[in-house]
Amino acid sequence: MTTHAIPTADLRARLRDPDLFREAALIDGAWLSRADMEVTDPATGGTLGQMPDCTAAETEAAIAAAERAMGPWKARTHLERADLLLAWHRLMLDHADDLASILTAEQGKPLAEAKAEILYGASFVRWFAEEARRINGAVIPSPVPGKMLLAMKEPVGVCAIITPWNFPNAMIARKVAPGLAAGCTMVIKPSDFTPYSALALGVLAERAGIPKGVLNILTGRPEAIGATLTASPVVRKLSFTGSTRVGALLAGQCAPTLKKLSLELGGNAPFIVFDDADVDAAVEGAMASKFRNGGQTCVCANRVLVQSGIHDRFVAALAAKVDALKVGAGTKPGTMIGPMINAAAIAKIEAHVEDALARGATRVTRRRDLGARFADPVVLTGATPDMRLASEETFGPVAPIFRFETEDEALALANGTPFGLAAYFYTADMSRAFRFGAALEVGLVALNTGAVSHAEAPFGGVKASGLGREGAREGIEEYLETKAFHIGGLARIAGGA
Ligand code: SIN
Repeated sequence: MTTHAIPTADLRARLRDPDLFREAALIDGAWLSRADMEVTDPATGGTLGQMPDCTAAETEAAIAAAERAMGPWKARTHLERADLLLAWHRLMLDHADDLASILTAEQGKPLAEAKAEILYGASFVRWFAEEARRINGAVIPSPVPGKMLLAMKEPVGVCAIITPWNFPNAMIARKVAPGLAAGCTMVIKPSDFTPYSALALGVLAERAGIPKGVLNILTGRPEAIGATLTASPVVRKLSFTGSTRVGALLAGQCAPTLKKLSLELGGNAPFIVFDDADVDAAVEGAMASKFRNGGQTCVCANRVLVQSGIHDRFVAALAAKVDALKVGAGTKPGTMIGPMINAAAIAKIEAHVEDALARGATRVTRRRDLGARFADPVVLTGATPDMRLASEETFGPVAPIFRFETEDEALALANGTPFGLAAYFYTADMSRAFRFGAALEVGLVALNTGAVSHAEAPFGGVKASGLGREGAREGIEEYLETKAFHIGGLARIAGGA
């Protein structure tokens, strides 16, 4: 333990409701406490607390609990499930400050951003509580007389939810809320870097009255838990957010039991600024997209493409904003960028910057020595497609600027990646807006805005960025099956032949 260590008692003491901080897994309504693994504060490296490293047998127990809970949960009316979700939503808002403190402690993002994530997460719970009442099937005109055709919606069944460390609250809410609304039960595996936000949501779910077994949370290393969840024939769906490499691995593990899959995977978002763009708005959008969560988001701008005529003005304005970013512990007032999640993240960011500089890029922002846990925010000009940061997700506060001349060139650069999650572009030309937006090979297009995340809009990617959509109307469909119901003999009842 380092001298900066924050002992568990300190985090608990910072909470208005210390009971929200649990160092235990939740299986069938029982809290299983064991100190198998430590969770650290990314800002200091100090120990925040402990957690159980759940075994394959404990994972089987959680799956069995979810299976037992499935029948009664599915049998509740949609209105009852909606009311329970609304009660959970209310508790999230009531405890938003504590949830944000837990999130900042384990993930590192500034407190204001953590609070924004809590509200973002809660917005999915409210949205899907409302959607629960609109899970309508269909009555389909029959091609033959005396027959009626129905399409009925049913919950998929027990779902496995595997979530990342970069949004420890919102990624759970975005998956669990539609699943519960649809009538599914859940076994959740949060990242082993950030389990406490998930466990706090579990406490609030219990208080909201969500029955035992409906929502189970397993902590620990991913291998045994992931392998057991994916191999189980009882688990009918996997929803995963994380890297494309792990997503493909999990999809392979799910193949023998043919599970329904939702995969929200890696990105390599282009952020394109045309000569006719409003420069101030484009810089503001670039800051929001690139530096949210210190650049540790799947949808953040990974490559900034700027047309020649506006290049120098845009670069100067962006560099000034980046030089003004305050980097430090997320708990410190005024911090705009917190620590990176771990040493491997820092090493990758530094390797991308060094590789770009070695291949001819120029650094246009000041250099700061921030120590081993923080990444120096940087703008690089002269970026080219042969650099690592052009083809790999940097997942950090690095903005490489690629200069381009024509719209065709920008489109080729934007689409020249196996990924297809988000793309941002700034232009005042409405004809180009629709032409260019339609040609982008992504699931999320942002025109003159740096934000693509709202509960109301479908979220997800194409190509190597994944399968399925979260949020919006589409998000609940991912947790539903459609059963066709063919009813014959109606002509006789109606007095026909
Ligand atoms: C992500 O980066 O995985 C999610 C970002 C978001 O929901 O805005």
